[in-house]
Amino acid sequence: MAATNYLFALAIACLLLVPLPGLSRCDDPRRGRDLAEGCNPSGALRPTTSHSCEDCCKAGQSYPTYVCSPPTSSATRAVMTLNDFEAGGDGGDPSECDGHFHKNTERVVALSTGWYANGSRCNKNIRINANGMSVLAKVVDECDSLHGCDREHAFQPPCRPNVVDASQAVWDALNITGDDVGEYDITWSDA
Ligand SMILES: *[C@@H]1O[C@H](CO)[C@@H](O)[C@H](O)[C@H]1NC(C)=O
Ligand SMILES: *[C@@H]1O[C@H](CO)[C@@H](O)[C@H](O)[C@H]1NC(C)=O
Repeated sequence: MAATNYLFALAIACLLLVPLPGLSRCDDPRRGRDLAEGCNPSGALRPTTSHSCEDCCKAGQSYPTYVCSPPTSSATRAVMTLNDFEAGGDGGDPSECDGHFHKNTERVVALSTGWYANGSRCNKNIRINANGMSVLAKVVDECDSLHGCDREHAFQPPCRPNVVDASQAVWDALNITGDDVGEYDITWSDA
């Protein structure tokens, strides 16, 4: 029932957004949902104030929240996104695992809340496979799927449940460049 309501709400939201430039915001949750087998939203954030940056939360929109992430395997499918781990970047606060900012030249990632698993993967490597290449990256942060739309999260919506949010160095190591940088389908495993 909750899932049906969510799909319905998403369909309405996307219909309303069709004439707006923010159409990509409609694609994102749909794409995320396709990969997020067995993991339904646990709730939603409905912010009352808008923020002006392009990806920031907007008043009147509903952003699903997730406690879970999809089950992991030796090749867990995920969406890789680009994160700025440095002070003053769009990553918001210092990394959750160690309380520090990180250089974007370090191979580091943040994982969606369910995969972050209360910090149990902190400072451990995961192996990311994409673009015919493979790279190790250290988990230093949570991509918070439960909270967002506030200053601590740089006014970004909650993370989708199936995200590996990676530094520029990870993208570089995977040789993903140009227009492909930003959002990319990957698989990952514990290393
Ligand atoms: C994280 O901790 C909470 C509270 O102790 C627990 O309910 C939850 O199952 C834990 N989540 C994971 C993924 O380990
Ligand atoms: C990186 O990708 C480019 C094409 O985008 C290719 O020409 C080059 O050989 C690749 N480098 C490696 C190390 O695979």
